[in-house]
Amino acid sequence: MGQASISRHLTREFVQRWRSANPQGEVITRDLTTIAIPVIDAAWVAANYTPRELRTQQQNEILALSTELTGELLDADEYAIGVPMHNWGPSSSFKLWVDQIVRFGETIAITPSGMNGTLDTKRATFFIAAGRHYGPPSADALRNHLEPWLRTFFGSLGVRDMRFVFADGTAEVRKGMIGRAAFLAPHVDAVQSLFPGN
Ligand SMILES: Cc1cc2nc3c(=O)[nH]c(=O)nc-3n(C[C@H](O)[C@H](O)[C@H](O)COP(=O)(O)O)c2cc1C
Repeated sequence: MGQASISRHLTREFVQRWRSANPQGEVITRDLTTIAIPVIDAAWVAANYTPRELRTQQQNEILALSTELTGELLDADEYAIGVPMHNWGPSSSFKLWVDQIVRFGETIAITPSGMNGTLDTKRATFFIAAGRHYGPPSADALRNHLEPWLRTFFGSLGVRDMRFVFADGTAEVRKGMIGRAAFLAPHVDAVQSLFPGN
C-alpha cells in the first residue's frame, strides 16, 4: 500500500533505531513491491535439487534471483520483516519470495539425518499489519494464520530467535475511526522497547 502501509512504517521505525544502536552496521533493504519475482516451476525445483557443482549454466541462470535473495539472508545477522496480512495469510509477493529462499545447500543443509535450517544464528523481528482484530475475545482470534505460518516457515530455516510486533485493526485507520499517529503510537512504543539501551 505504498506510503499508507502500516507494516512498512514499522519496519522503517525499527531500522532507524537499529542504525542508532549499530552505527557501524550495514542495512540491506529488500522491497518486494519493486521487483517481479517469478513463480517457481519444475525447472527451478530441479535446479534447486541439483548439487551446486553439477548445475548447468542454464540452471544457474534459473536460480540467479533466488541466489541473490538467499545471499542477502545468509549475509545478514538480523532480519526486520514487514508482512501485510492478505486473505488470512501473507501477501502474494511475500509468498513468492519465501519460495525463492528455500535453497538446498544454502538455507537448508541436507545431512544424513535429514534436513536442517542453516539460519540458526539469526534473529528475526516481524512486523505484521492486519485490517481486523485478532485479540483473544474477537471472533477472528483463531483466524490469524499468518503468525503461526511465519513461525513454522522461519523455524524450518533454523531461525529460533523470533519477535513479533502485531499491528491489527488497521481497517479503523482506513475508515477514519482512529488517526494514523494514534493507531501507530503503541506499536512504535513496542518497537522502541526492542532497543532498551537507546
Ligand atoms: C488484498 C487484501 C486482502 C486482505 N485480507 C485481509 C485479511 O484476510 N484479514 C485482515 O485482517 N486484513 C486483511 N486485509 C487488510 C490488510 O491486512 C491491512 O490493510 C493491513 O494494514 C495491510 O498491511 P500494510 O498496511 O502494511 O499494507 C487485506 C487487504 C488487502 C489489500
